[in-house]
Amino acid sequence: NKTWQVAIIPGDGIGPEVIAEAQACLDRLNELGACDIEMTAFPWPATAYHREHGQMMPDDGLEQLRRFDALLLGALGDPGPGSDPDHYVLPDSVSLEPLLKIRKGFDQWACERPAYLLPGARQYLADPRAKDVDMLVIRENSEGEYVSQGGRIRPGTPAEVATQVEVFTRFGTERILRYAFDRARQRAATRKAEKRTREFSHRDGKPRESQVCLITKRNALRHWGDMYVEVFEQLAQEYSDVAVHHELVDAACMKFVQAPWQFDVVAASNLQGDILTDLAAVLSGGLGVAPSCNLNPDDRTVPSMFEPTHGSAPDIAGQGIADPRAMLFTTARMLRWLGEEDDDAASAGDLLFNAVAADLAEAAGQPPRSTTSIGTAIRDRLKL
Ligand code: NAD
Ligand code: IPM
Ligand code: MN
Repeated sequence: NKTWQVAIIPGDGIGPEVIAEAQACLDRLNELGACDIEMTAFPWPATAYHREHGQMMPDDGLEQLRRFDALLLGALGDPGPGSDPDHYVLPDSVSLEPLLKIRKGFDQWACERPAYLLPGARQYLADPRAKDVDMLVIRENSEGEYVSQGGRIRPGTPAEVATQVEVFTRFGTERILRYAFDRARQRAATRKAEKRTREFSHRDGKPRESQVCLITKRNALRHWGDMYVEVFEQLAQEYSDVAVHHELVDAACMKFVQAPWQFDVVAASNLQGDILTDLAAVLSGGLGVAPSCNLNPDDRTVPSMFEPTHGSAPDIAGQGIADPRAMLFTTARMLRWLGEEDDDAASAGDLLFNAVAADLAEAAGQPPRSTTSIGTAIRDRLKL
C-alpha cells in the first residue's frame, strides 16, 4: 500500500457537511486496509477563516498545499445570513478567489465532469432515451474567460466602463482539445471491453465509435472561436477514428435537453463548460450527485483538486439535508486518480463508487434522507 497525502478542505455552506461523509468513508476504507489515505484538514480557504484573519487563506496557502498528492474540497462561497446571524457576507469575487488561485497555481487545466444516469437517479427528462445519457464534458480550466483581467473605469459614474478580458492561448487550446480526443478514444476502448458499443455519425458518412463535440460561440466571439476550430480540425485529421462535431453553445444548451444521448465527449471553454455542466448535472439526477475534478494530467508533483460540481448551497446549508453523494462520487474519482499509480487506491475507488451507486439504486422512490443517514448507509456498504 502506498500512503497518499490528501488535504481536506471543507470550505463554506454545505461543504463541511458533505465532506464529513467523505472523511468517514475514507476512514472506513483505511480501516478495511483497502487503501492508505492520510488526511490533513485545513480551516481555509473559508469564509469563517476570513472573519478572523481578514483573508480567505494565508499568504503561503498554495505553498502549504503543494506537498499533497490530492486536494479534496467541499465548496466555497459565503452562505450569508440565515445560517449565522452575525455573518459578514463576502462577495463571491472574494470568497471564490482561492478556488481559482488553486486551479491556476497547480495548473489544473483539465476539468472533467461526466453525466450519465445511474439506476435510481432522478430522471428529469420525460423522454425514455434520457436514461441512455453518457457524456463527459471536458472543461478548459486554466484560461479563457477566467483570467480575471480587466477592470472598472470611472466606477459608479454614468460614464463607467467595465472590461473583462478573455485570453485563449494556442498552447492551452491544443492541450485541452487533444485531451478530449484522447478521452474519447479511451471511452470507446472501455465500451468495447465491456461489449457496449455506440455509433456516432461522421461527416464522411462512415460512423465512428466515439465522438468529440466542440463548443464555441464563434459566430460572436470569433477570435478564440476561430482558433479553437482551427486546432480542432487539425486534431480531427490526427484522430480520424473519432467522429467530430461542432456546436454553438446556445444550440448545445438546447440539444443537451432535447437529445443529450447523442453526445459523447464535449469540449468547452472555461465559462461555457461551467454553464453546460450545471445543465449536464441535471441530466444525471441533479447537482446532489454530480462529481467533478480539476486535473493536472502532466504533472503529478503538484496536487490535482477534487470537488463536486455544486457550490455551497446557502439555501439549504445548516439543515443537514445536503446530498453527500456528489462529494462521495468525487472522492471515488480521487481514489481512481491516485489509483493510476496504486492498484489498492484504484480498487478502493471502485468500492466507494459501487457503494454510492448501490445506495442510489436502493433509495429510489424512498422518502428523503439526511446527509448523515445517506453517508452512514454508504459507509456501511464498504466491505472488502
Ligand atoms: P449551488 O450549486 O450552491 O446551489 C444550486 C442549487 O442546487 C441550490 O438550490 C442548492 O440547494 C442545490 N444543491 C447544490 N448542491 C446540493 C446538494 N449536494 N444536495 C442538495 N441540493 C444541492 O449554486 P449557487 O446557489 O449558485 O451558489 C452558491 C454559492 O456557491 C455561491 O457563492 C457560488 O459562487 C458558490 N459556488 C461554489 C462552487 C465551488 O466551490 N466549487 C461551485 C459552484 C458555486
Ligand atoms: C464551479 C463553480 C466555480 C466556477 C465558481 C464558484 C468560481 O461554478 O466550479 O463550477 O465557475 O468554476
Ligand atoms: Mn459551476
